[in-house]
Amino acid sequence: MSDTYTFNDQDLKEIKKLITKYPEKQAAVLPVLWYAQDKFGHTDSAVQKLVAQTMDIPEAHIHGVVTFYTQFYEKPMGKHVLDVCTCLSCQVCGGYDMLNHLEEKLGIKAGETTPDGEFSIQSVECLGACGYAPMLQVTNDKFVNHLTREKLDKLIDDLKAGKKPEFESNKMPQHVNGSEK
Ligand code: FES
Repeated sequence: MSDTYTFNDQDLKEIKKLITKYPEKQAAVLPVLWYAQDKFGHTDSAVQKLVAQTMDIPEAHIHGVVTFYTQFYEKPMGKHVLDVCTCLSCQVCGGYDMLNHLEEKLGIKAGETTPDGEFSIQSVECLGACGYAPMLQVTNDKFVNHLTREKLDKLIDDLKAGKKPEFESNKMPQHVNGSEK
């Protein structure tokens, strides 16, 4: 087993439950990875190894799944992960302008985390909300639509202040809106 991360007995019970929901254990890779990410905050190579060993599935397969979806974090991330869509619809509606504004405001580039560990920014592919372009998703959960610089400023201010931002209504169920890397 991985030395850095371990699943306790309760984790193993939950993982077994997840696996038995599916006819083949490979089909449970996504939910088990979500479970691992919820527990450890990311799915870096050590977590991938742990999942592979726990499920008795080749590590390369687990790695392939993790690297396919931007929703799985291959390294420790900030408390708030801002996934800015820069795919076609968002791009033509100013997605890169929004990304650049965030980068300037937070003093980091896409793929980086602020030194205080509060924010990470990612540039991601289509999140399935093209009609709301340009948009972003916060830590695999709520969407912020029709982005403007003002909306971004308010979002960051609210998150920094520990306030719940005023998210719009097109929330997608957590963990189902997979987007490719
Ligand atoms: S292109 Fe941005 S959500 Fe589809």
